[in-house]
Amino acid sequence: MKEFTSTGLTYSNGKLLVLDQQQLPWCEEWIECLDPSHMCEIILQLKVRGAPLIGVAAAMALACYVTNNPTLDADQVLAQATKLRSARPTAVNLAAAVDRMMAAYQQSNFDHQGIIDTAWQIYQEDVELCQQMAAHGAELISDGESVLTHCNGGGLATAGIGTALGVLIYAHQQGKKIHVYVDETRPLLQGGRLTTWELNRYQVPHTLICDNMAASLMAQGKIHKVMVGADRIAANGDFANKIGTYSVAVNADYHQIPFYTVAPYTTVDLDCPGGSQIPVEQRGSFEVKGVKTLESNICWAPKESATYNPAFDVTPAKLVTGWVLESGVCTPPFLGRKEGR
Ligand code: MRU
Repeated sequence: MKEFTSTGLTYSNGKLLVLDQQQLPWCEEWIECLDPSHMCEIILQLKVRGAPLIGVAAAMALACYVTNNPTLDADQVLAQATKLRSARPTAVNLAAAVDRMMAAYQQSNFDHQGIIDTAWQIYQEDVELCQQMAAHGAELISDGESVLTHCNGGGLATAGIGTALGVLIYAHQQGKKIHVYVDETRPLLQGGRLTTWELNRYQVPHTLICDNMAASLMAQGKIHKVMVGADRIAANGDFANKIGTYSVAVNADYHQIPFYTVAPYTTVDLDCPGGSQIPVEQRGSFEVKGVKTLESNICWAPKESATYNPAFDVTPAKLVTGWVLESGVCTPPFLGRKEGR
């Protein structure tokens, strides 16, 4: 296997390492992924996360598995692939990456090299897709604009520079004076912990806000555009992204602020006709009732209270100004366009 380094995933000296995103920004700890079952746990615990990156991570976990265990038979490999495929249900990138790996394995007559080569292609392709989306998306941003983003669509969510955040970082690198408003993104604070960490690394001017402050900023005319990522784009352009994205889209529509989603073709699911068919992952109650920090778990709600914790929501296509894809910016109607490959 070839060595590589990305913001949240690395393969070096025969080890697949994951930057534990649950410990960011307090601590930068890399954990070694021991096998595909371990990668399933890592994905489920959101130590590695973000739609494109979980696809790449699953592919690399399988590639490492066959590299370290050359005598595995096809049934053993397929069993691990099946487990990985269902580790998280909403981001289609995960299932798509595993399916692509298995198709290549079959085509190579169950030669492990087919898996290793395909994992590398998936990784390298994602780096390039990010660069292409960044270039197209940055054209939408003018000097002096402030852009709101939700969740984390940066290098921590992809193998490259990112999706929505990649656009903003690239616009900053082009010399545009932009300002990023970062939704903290309850309940797991991907905005407050991860997007801020990335923006600080790239020295992009930004302001962190609580999710419920966005509408007020929009009303004050402080937000010129919204850019978010996606976990699955249905054939009609509806898309799932981190819970809270739909509220941002409704608020943007009310204030007539352009609202874009940025995603590669690996996030488009043409087999899914519309948003209501996208499976939405439901998570445990602790994430709503409290918060985990490095030192402690703080629970602020009564044990007896029920919770509702969908990890994603669906934004209807009619609220989307444009879908920023690697091939360019698609304006409505989306109508099952799957650009690129
Ligand atoms: O639960 P997460 O943190 O994996 O959710 C991630 C998101 O919703 C991102 O916005 C999404 O993956 C798109 S950006 C790569």
